[in-house]
Amino acid sequence: MSTSCTPFYAQRRAALAAHIGPKGIAILPTAPEQQRNRDSDFQFRHDSYFYYLSGFTEPKAWLVITGDGKTTLFCQPKDLEREIWDGFRLGPDAAPAALGVDTAYSVDELDTRLPGLLDSRDAVWFPFATHKGLETRVDGWLGSLRARIRYGTLTPEQQRDLCGPLDEMRLIKDAHEQDLMRRAAKISANAHVRAMQKCAAMLRQGREVREYHLDAELLHEFRRHGSQYPAYGSIVAAGANACVLHYRADAGLVRDGELVLIDAGCELDGYASDITRTFPANGKYTGPQRELYNLVLASQDAAVAATKSGARFTDPHDATVAVLAQGMLDVGLLDKNKVGSVEDVIEKRAYFQFYMHRTGHWLGMDVHDCGAYTEPSQIGQTSERKDALTGQLIVDRPARILQPGMVLTIEPGIYVRPGEGVPEHFHNIGIRIEDDAIVTASGCELMTRDVPVDADAIEALMRG
Ligand code: GLY
Ligand code: MN
Ligand code: MN
Repeated sequence: MSTSCTPFYAQRRAALAAHIGPKGIAILPTAPEQQRNRDSDFQFRHDSYFYYLSGFTEPKAWLVITGDGKTTLFCQPKDLEREIWDGFRLGPDAAPAALGVDTAYSVDELDTRLPGLLDSRDAVWFPFATHKGLETRVDGWLGSLRARIRYGTLTPEQQRDLCGPLDEMRLIKDAHEQDLMRRAAKISANAHVRAMQKCAAMLRQGREVREYHLDAELLHEFRRHGSQYPAYGSIVAAGANACVLHYRADAGLVRDGELVLIDAGCELDGYASDITRTFPANGKYTGPQRELYNLVLASQDAAVAATKSGARFTDPHDATVAVLAQGMLDVGLLDKNKVGSVEDVIEKRAYFQFYMHRTGHWLGMDVHDCGAYTEPSQIGQTSERKDALTGQLIVDRPARILQPGMVLTIEPGIYVRPGEGVPEHFHNIGIRIEDDAIVTASGCELMTRDVPVDADAIEALMRG
């Protein structure tokens, strides 16, 4: 990822400055470096908010934005000896031209300069409960400022959560972000195709296939197209492992006749993709596998149709559940003599035995991206109901109204663990189909369909 002075970072900082008011100040560190063990660190990944406002990917950096629209960056100083070991540092002298910030200092000056920057501000904004120890740092700077009160300093009266305005800004993806997300989605889609084809080809050649072989194919495709890393731990789940929702790619044997569920997406220049496909290891779905697969796909079709500007965030989930509930009765996963009609299945949440997660989440810089799931214009409106399954009192709030530029996943599934009354031919089948959608004025754009979802189309590509 290269550091570049592009106008949208400055535009985002200006929008934030307008939000915090002329006497506000916002303080934002990037992510900390994390030790893995002894002399090894985890690969550094910048903080998403920080990158959103700066495009800067070095560690040990802070942004200070004041309500008059001025930005100060604190970053690592140039240090030839350290750069020989760790690589290039931009340094404070080059930062204004490279990043479009107004001023830059060495991060070593943070504690001496922050009290002065905070002087005479009415509110200090920083992200709450996201950076360990940040509140203590801010406390220290405010304390230093207050200690100079006899010299006429004025300490901010308010501390405000910076996540609020930044979450709202990040929820609507601009044209640049949408373009990046389309590119990330395309790379990931091709990686899924590659893993499917490799799986069938290896089995045809009589070779042993393990989950890690397919994980390697995904990574190969991500990296060769410039993705920095997977956006989250790839799930490659063979057979019954697909019924473990947070399974990770491991060493499980991929068996002829079983399904493989892959939930994997790359991160490209700070933006995530998130795709799930479930395919037959040998390239041909069995009857029961295809029956459940088509049910999940029909439920996804219903969710896609419900994803449009003006709809609620919960509409795709409700559409999914309606199709799955009817389908579970039709295919015999649920017994209507025991659970009743489709309305009863929904009302009593009987489908939950086989479908126990939500149908989507916001997607962006973070795979589970930020942004309120309740509608801000209806805050304070609540209704209460008793959950039929648990008996707990649930407080419902109006769900977010979808707007063009919001990006979300659509990911229904069915997971069949063996149990009393569960038809044996469905045992241990786990299926999820997940695509990434940009909400548009008239519906939604699926960015991830370079890997097909139709069962026949998947079989066809696996023959290739
Ligand atoms: N891969 C994470 C998710 O689907 O939410
Ligand atoms: Mn997802
Ligand atoms: Mn996923």
